[in-house]
Amino acid sequence: MISGAQFSMRSFRHITILTGAGISAESGISTFRDKDGIWAKYDYRDVATPEGFARNPKLVLDFYNMRRKASAMAKPNAAHLALARLEQAYDGRVVVVTQNVDALHEAAGTQNLIHMHGEHQKALCSLCGTRHPWGPEYPDLSAELPCPGCGASGGMRPDVVWFGEMPYHMGRIADELARTDLFISIGTSGNVYPAAGFVAEARDRGARTVELNLEPSQGSSLFDEAVHGRASEIVPAYVDRLIAGMA
Ligand code: OAD
Repeated sequence: MISGAQFSMRSFRHITILTGAGISAESGISTFRDKDGIWAKYDYRDVATPEGFARNPKLVLDFYNMRRKASAMAKPNAAHLALARLEQAYDGRVVVVTQNVDALHEAAGTQNLIHMHGEHQKALCSLCGTRHPWGPEYPDLSAELPCPGCGASGGMRPDVVWFGEMPYHMGRIADELARTDLFISIGTSGNVYPAAGFVAEARDRGARTVELNLEPSQGSSLFDEAVHGRASEIVPAYVDRLIAGMA
């Protein structure tokens, strides 16, 4: 049996890292399914589905306006910074696929980044399909706001993927997973597909699979190695091990 210590950093040519809400928790952004998480306070069917938006657009827009402001004030923590450091230090390919809609990976310096669930700091016009930067300096989204593209009001929504919608960049992600030889999952409960299925895809292709999370996720049996603890501690430590060729 091959032990973890026999893998050196040079053994991995292509590292794919999936991140979820847990990596941003210590930056002050709530997770979804923890005891005090967002889905303990809101029904996802009201605020994170196209049907909820059709029923009560004001409720949905207020929810995302609030979250967009909170995430704009947050700062990357040691885990985000460690992943940016890995990308810099590593001479193979490192790609971060995030389910998070905050901008903390970018703020930390990660460049090769895929936002599969969209971004808080963008708006989408559901009438004409155009996307627009929507940083903290922009006004709150509202039903009255005209689209900067088509000029029509009533269609502006956050550019985030809701339940029942197809996540973004699935073709690119499939290409990355097909070439991955180390798959690392960080801060995600493994409840939401298709992201929750990436570990099985990578594993089927022969990749080593590693989970860095506060607790075992839904898919924990599919990981070759797991480290449980706070992301701000275990991610920098794991990155150090990778860079030293000890992972
Ligand atoms: P969850 O809230 O489901 O899971 C967060 C995970 O992070 C849990 O397993 C926690 O134990 C772990 N965690 C919490 N604090 C941590 C810390 N300080 N360090 C390390 N781990 C920590 O969030 P996601 O898995 O990201 O989608 O949720 C996936 C998707 O479900 C989200 O993108 C969102 C949500 O509904 C949509 O809205 C479409």
